[in-house]
Amino acid sequence: MTAVAEPTANDTSQVPAPEGSVTITMRILRFNPEVDSEPHWESYDVPALPTDRVLNVLMSIKNYVDGTLSFRRSCAHGICGSDAMQINGINRLACKVLVKDLLAKEGKQTVVTIAPIKGLPTMKDLYVDMEPFFEAYRAVKPYLMAYGNEPTRERIQSQADRERFDDTTKCILCACCTSSCPVYWNDGSYFGPAAIVNAHRFIFDSRDEGSEERLDILNDAEGVWRCRTTFNCTDACPRGIQVTKAIQEVKRALLFKRV
Ligand code: SF4
Ligand code: SF4
Ligand code: FES
Repeated sequence: MTAVAEPTANDTSQVPAPEGSVTITMRILRFNPEVDSEPHWESYDVPALPTDRVLNVLMSIKNYVDGTLSFRRSCAHGICGSDAMQINGINRLACKVLVKDLLAKEGKQTVVTIAPIKGLPTMKDLYVDMEPFFEAYRAVKPYLMAYGNEPTRERIQSQADRERFDDTTKCILCACCTSSCPVYWNDGSYFGPAAIVNAHRFIFDSRDEGSEERLDILNDAEGVWRCRTTFNCTDACPRGIQVTKAIQEVKRALLFKRV
């Protein structure tokens, strides 16, 4: 879908303006599948405190200007991974971006553009259909696989062994990485970086016995070899996970048949 037409201005006079607030322009890509054939930009001049998060500003618009504005959010603390969106063209979590970090230089009007993440079908406004993303996630079997008799005590692991996959345990499945990946945009059948990160988390877990199975899955035409090492995914990750490094480690495990 391509966006058309100039932004529509909206009446924002009912939005409360607390002391210390500044007026910023939120330029949001809107799409209602019931009435629109294409997405279009709408503009909202709203008061916001520098300490507000972008999510707060979106909530103000939803609460005081247009209740139909649609986006996902839950925790508001960068934990649940629900509110990934493009903020000024970069994939971010709306609850982790502060208004003060987006303010224009003195005297200039701050304009913040907000659009849905790319590579997944837009359902309405800022929320996308995450099913293709979760389908790839499920395909790599992101759970501990262990065979044989049930152990009578916990499965012991050394600190060094735990360290091997520590980084990839931090994933919150926000899709910022996968939806910033040019290979994923151009070829929806690629598993995408998030699925590989979650496979990595178990492939390198010394307690797991499913590594071979997962590596076979990722050796597929849609697997790790599609990655072009452009680092978009690492730059986009709000958890600071070394996504490309994890993908490289999976590639090495496949090349040398050793985890
Ligand atoms: S490093 Fe690989 S997975 Fe990450 S964005 Fe680039 S091509 Fe996609
Ligand atoms: S690896 Fe990072 S960017 Fe990708 S889904 Fe997990 S938390 Fe989000
Ligand atoms: S709302 Fe949970 S991560 Fe932003």
